Amino acid sequence: MKYINKFRLELNKVNSIQELEILRIQYLGKKGFILSHIKKLPNLCIIDRKSIGQKINYLKCYIQDAINKKKIEFKNIYIKKKIVSEKLDISLPGKRNDIGSMHPINSMINYIKNFFHTLGFTIIINELEIENQYYNFDSLNIPVYHPSRNSQDTFWFDSNNLLRTQTSNMQIHEIKKHQLPIKIIVPGKVYRKDYDQTHSPMFHQIEGLVIDKHVNFSNLKWIINSFLYSFFGQNIQTRFRASYFPFTILSSEVDVMSNNNVWLEILGCGLVHPDILKRFNINHKIYSGLAFGVGVERLVMLYYGLKDLRLFYKNDLSFLKQFNRSRYF
Ligand code: DAH
Repeated sequence: MKYINKFRLELNKVNSIQELEILRIQYLGKKGFILSHIKKLPNLCIIDRKSIGQKINYLKCYIQDAINKKKIEFKNIYIKKKIVSEKLDISLPGKRNDIGSMHPINSMINYIKNFFHTLGFTIIINELEIENQYYNFDSLNIPVYHPSRNSQDTFWFDSNNLLRTQTSNMQIHEIKKHQLPIKIIVPGKVYRKDYDQTHSPMFHQIEGLVIDKHVNFSNLKWIINSFLYSFFGQNIQTRFRASYFPFTILSSEVDVMSNNNVWLEILGCGLVHPDILKRFNINHKIYSGLAFGVGVERLVMLYYGLKDLRLFYKNDLSFLKQFNRSRYF
């Protein structure tokens, strides 16, 4: 009885299943109370051995039983607590996750990439935003006195390095690789010192370049028109207007007719200037090229009738959310 009372007192103090396990080991473990007494039995005389053996056995069963019951009690408490804490009220309204959407400029770039990919163009992804004047100007026949080189227009780091003002620099990087034919488009960021409703210091261009045998102006027209028809719809009117770029001949700007019957300028294009081909040892009698450059922001603005390009870069969610459910370009 003495031991049973002691055990009961200790059992009452137990507050957790972990403490219960410690108590069990104290009494029933290999080095515990019961086994240590059982080990002492052989030293006793036969009569004591029998009566004490019975008592120890009774004690062992009692303790085992009490511990098992206590364990069940703890488990029930634990389950009850869990049920209360994890109660699921299915009548509560669900949590709404605001689903983000692609920025309209990125959608546009993806649209253009996909379109030209289906025409067999390779998409070049490049980070060459810091450029030197050779690739950005010299190699593209842009004369030293050209106003675009002016520090009022271009972000110069020093007398040679600048933030590229056009993705046309990529024409030269690709031509220099000497792997003909070339049929690429290159999306990327370009930088100019401009800031007003229709200009921002950083904007996106997509450069297209094809160099192969028998490339001519009708190929260029077909490619550009196919792109504009696919984007603005088959009924759109387009116009190729003679223009000038130092790195192309038969240079042209392309306009589309807006809903208000006004021609809007969309992109620049032309046939690659033979001087550029010659400069990089491409036989201009066998090979010819076409090139074009599209301003991405301009296309999106025209498509949605937006007036201020700076809205794209203000991180204004109420503006950006309008594009959530819009046509995925
Ligand atoms: N790089 C020209 C610009 O930024 C756009 C351009 C015009 C690109 C004609 C071309 C091209 O590839 O052939 O204004």
